[in-house]
Amino acid sequence: MLVPGASSQALAAALASELGESLAAVEYDTFPDGETLAAVPGFDADTATIVASTASNDAYIELLQLQDAVREAGAREVTTVIPYMGYARQDKAFEVGHPISARAVARAVSTTTDRVVLVNPHEDAIADFFDVPVEIVDAAGRLAEPLPELHDPLFLSPDSGAIDIANTVRDAYGDGETDYFEKVRKSGTEVEITPSETDFDGRDVVITDDIIATGSTMSEAVAVLTEGGANRVFCATVHPLLARNARTKLCRAGIERVVGTDTIEREVSAVSVAPAVADVLER
Ligand code: R5P
Repeated sequence: MLVPGASSQALAAALASELGESLAAVEYDTFPDGETLAAVPGFDADTATIVASTASNDAYIELLQLQDAVREAGAREVTTVIPYMGYARQDKAFEVGHPISARAVARAVSTTTDRVVLVNPHEDAIADFFDVPVEIVDAAGRLAEPLPELHDPLFLSPDSGAIDIANTVRDAYGDGETDYFEKVRKSGTEVEITPSETDFDGRDVVITDDIIATGSTMSEAVAVLTEGGANRVFCATVHPLLARNARTKLCRAGIERVVGTDTIEREVSAVSVAPAVADVLER
């Protein structure tokens, strides 16, 4: 039985349909003191597949509650699908005295599940932070589907770390070059981009990344491309977090379109990762 977190309801429904499984009735509540409650009244299955992105602190608590609730209700086998794993970018102690936050949350999630499925985590090494088996889904190829016909296409990652995503999207699109910029992060909302030697003049460019958070990385990259004479610039991301004013930043930078998946359910979520996740669950 599929058990949706509050922010992954569309994806859980798509996954239930892919797998031919039923969807649990879940209730989400918030008490006057701000504490949340996620419950599964009527849950009566042997196996539970919880699908819950953790883009907020509340979503993490809700996930832990759902794991505990299905065990209480008798589930013997629990799989936890985290389509978007929050805190994954805090995968090291950045200064003395800092936590490794990704490890801290991974350990908590591991306590009440038999296995975990992650979709394009920030780094694959994050799997090592969990105390249970982890499977990683690469859904980046799906980002090619909503793209229109492109002129002399270039698939570009804003830093070398995301070049695999650019290659995957290019391969799925079936045509074009790949390249990457250099990026230095100055603060949580400021980045400095150094372009490559590639000629962008008159080309359609698709900037690919695992996540758009504040939109600083993408909007800086768009500015460089526009100055370099690029024709249309598209942004393709697995996790369209789009925090704060990210959407406005991208529009002001002059992008043609943002496409994302439904790991985080947003208006730009043009494709579902459900088929790719279902493949891994059915193995
Ligand atoms: C960083 O390594 C990631 O791949 C993304 O480029 C980054 O996290 C995006 O963040 P923002 O949208 O805030 O620039």
